[in-house]
Amino acid sequence: MTEGAAFDVQERDAVYRAIATRRDVRRGFLDKPLPDDLIHRLLSAAHSAPSVGLMQPSRFILVRDHGIRRAVHAAFLQANEQAMATYTGERREQYARLKLEGILEAPQNLCVVSDLESERGHQLGRHTMPETAIYSTVCAIQNLWLAARAEGVGVGWVSILDPPRLAEILQIPANILPVAYLCLGYVNRFGTQPELERYGWESRVPLDRVISYDTYSDERKAGHVEAAKA
Ligand SMILES: Cc1cc2nc3c(=O)[nH]c(=O)nc-3n(C[C@H](O)[C@H](O)[C@H](O)COP(=O)(O)O)c2cc1C
Repeated sequence: MTEGAAFDVQERDAVYRAIATRRDVRRGFLDKPLPDDLIHRLLSAAHSAPSVGLMQPSRFILVRDHGIRRAVHAAFLQANEQAMATYTGERREQYARLKLEGILEAPQNLCVVSDLESERGHQLGRHTMPETAIYSTVCAIQNLWLAARAEGVGVGWVSILDPPRLAEILQIPANILPVAYLCLGYVNRFGTQPELERYGWESRVPLDRVISYDTYSDERKAGHVEAAKA
């Protein structure tokens, strides 16, 4: 039994399930195009996201053209090379083994950009925090990511790209900020843990380490040290 405005139990569980089992997907895409109506549902989910002052600054560039995708992939390879050069030793070898994009394998690519200068919303909420326009676009991306999980569609976010180069390839004007380059496609399964955790790059932080009460506290750092000693 649920009360008031709450979802019934099954609906609620489905929402939490989408959140808990969403993954960043870079491999295993099926060679099957995403139907237009599905893409429309995903974009509609993104477009329904909260936005500062109801600014709705997000714009969506659907990329399927192979020539454009090859150019983006080449830009990734270059940026990835530069990123790899910042690591040394074991970390570098580990980095080299990671798969960090699915630009050519995924049947659908999507670049999400933000119109930071849009007058929509009349600056409400942006006087003190102009960056909330970008946050609004990130909210849109997360909505899409969760809706995609419910649809059995994997999404991978590729940020290892030089924004000016990406803007050049996709002909994005100077006043529009590229926020995310996403690779989308049906998958047969979603991993049970983040790939970066599975491959030993990083592990997830337990929730209680990131909660403090009333004022900011770094006590969890002390906890972290104790846990490491144990
Ligand atoms: C802003 C942002 C940028 C990201 N950029 C990349 C990327 O360039 N390549 C990649 O493989 N994963 C990227 N990811 C995915 C993260 O690595 C992933 O979300 C994290 O490891 C947790 O895994 P999960 O999403 O499967 O839970 C990005 C995620 C976010 C939120």
